[in-house]
Amino acid sequence: MDFLKELGLKDVNFGTCTDHNEWSTDESAGLIESHNPATGELLGKVVSASEADYENVISKAQAVFKEWRKVPGPQRGEAVRLVGEALRKHKDALGSLVAAEMGKIKSEGDGEVQEMIDMADFAVGQARMMYGNTMHSERPGHRMYDQWHPLGVVGIISAFNFPVAVWSWNAFVAAICGNVSVWKPSQKVPLCSIAVQNICNQALKDAGFPPIFLLFNDDSNELAKKFVDDKRVNLVSFTGSTQVGKQVGVQVAKRMGRSLLELGGNNALIVDKSADLKLAVPAIVFGAVGTAGQRCTTTRRLFVHEDIAEELTEKVVNAYKQVPIGNPLDTNTLMGPLIDENSVNMYLNAVEKAKAAGGEVLTGGNRVDGPGNFVEPCVIKAQADWDVVKTETFAPILYVMTFSDLDAVIEAQNDVAHGLSSAIFTNDLRQAEQFLSSAGSDCGIANVNIGTSGAEIGGAFGGEKETGGGREAGSDAWKAYMRRQTNTINYSTELPLAQGIKFDI
Ligand code: UN1
Repeated sequence: MDFLKELGLKDVNFGTCTDHNEWSTDESAGLIESHNPATGELLGKVVSASEADYENVISKAQAVFKEWRKVPGPQRGEAVRLVGEALRKHKDALGSLVAAEMGKIKSEGDGEVQEMIDMADFAVGQARMMYGNTMHSERPGHRMYDQWHPLGVVGIISAFNFPVAVWSWNAFVAAICGNVSVWKPSQKVPLCSIAVQNICNQALKDAGFPPIFLLFNDDSNELAKKFVDDKRVNLVSFTGSTQVGKQVGVQVAKRMGRSLLELGGNNALIVDKSADLKLAVPAIVFGAVGTAGQRCTTTRRLFVHEDIAEELTEKVVNAYKQVPIGNPLDTNTLMGPLIDENSVNMYLNAVEKAKAAGGEVLTGGNRVDGPGNFVEPCVIKAQADWDVVKTETFAPILYVMTFSDLDAVIEAQNDVAHGLSSAIFTNDLRQAEQFLSSAGSDCGIANVNIGTSGAEIGGAFGGEKETGGGREAGSDAWKAYMRRQTNTINYSTELPLAQGIKFDI
């Protein structure tokens, strides 16, 4: 596998980066093994961080921040521009590593790296646009405005399913805002983090920029807990399960830190009888089967108008039967494996629960024999109020329900704990607008005639309710990485008080 070599990966890799490309050699905390989920083969080992490593990373981040915060925004943007250029050069190799270590297909692995590149371009532009407002003071000879300053150290805890892109959403925006970021990736995909660090930090070093991206890998989660509780980490951006995210939110709030939470989704797609099924079918299949159902934006619930339910379901089931499952690096494959054995068991359990509730399995529902964590993509005729349908299972299971009334189906789509992504397929303008209205979808993302997954980076990404409320990537998500300051300047020779208060001495 030439891509491992191109990315500087070896059989055993250091996992804690304390400077541009200085890595701790302390092996006292043991090794993390990275296995290819398609074959079970060992891809490499990574040295887990010790307590001392963690301290070194955080104190380095604090020291670098003292310098970085003084660098003008557009120059910070230049650093991110060079990082984006370096990623362009290694897109193919990094995309292959994402496919090999995480198990998504090569085209999606490449797409994830493209998302990083797009994010870098976005951040470069944003670096000149961290606008504040100018207000009219109520006092004569006074000027008032607000400005945005860097926060400090931004902690990024990322999940296995987007092992490189989610880091870039956070790290690149944090960087142009004047912050230093410290990354704790999922222990299921440590090699991706090391490869990214190698590429980005070399680019920073070559151009004489400080080491604004630091990293530690931790297998036990002990250091991750410390990280969340650490007052020196001004913002904790966490992507992962709702269960862990709730704890992160509470722990960070206890120390009055800031958190940005990107948790699960139980995303629904509604297909009206007026919909163009040529668009709806591939959108459903990509949304539900893409990344083997392991995106937080994966389509998990499908509501079909009763008049077209039979026709659409048949088309979807036919398409499912043709999905080539296999090695993600093989260009014909459309669905790779699940990340691990535990995920396979969660998939099988959910299928069993749905059957027990009265669900009819229309296709799939089994593990694929042989090496690797492969399962069949599954469609189940179900009812919206079943527990299993209302629970997010991180696997390719699509529950299909029918509807006749738009108000009722919008209510049903909203009646789950999460609020990440949603979509309607319709050619009826009134329906589309109702779905997007204040009485429509309650999700952070609501789409018309495109599916629930595969968002562009230009918009703010995130969702409501148990999805956590955070927003990352585009639009004005940058504000989460900065502190706002209101400034009032008196250029007069008087000292008038606000609200007309008299206080003469
Ligand atoms: C995630 O699954 O954590 O919208 C992120 C999408 C991708 C990002 C998903 N751009 O599907």
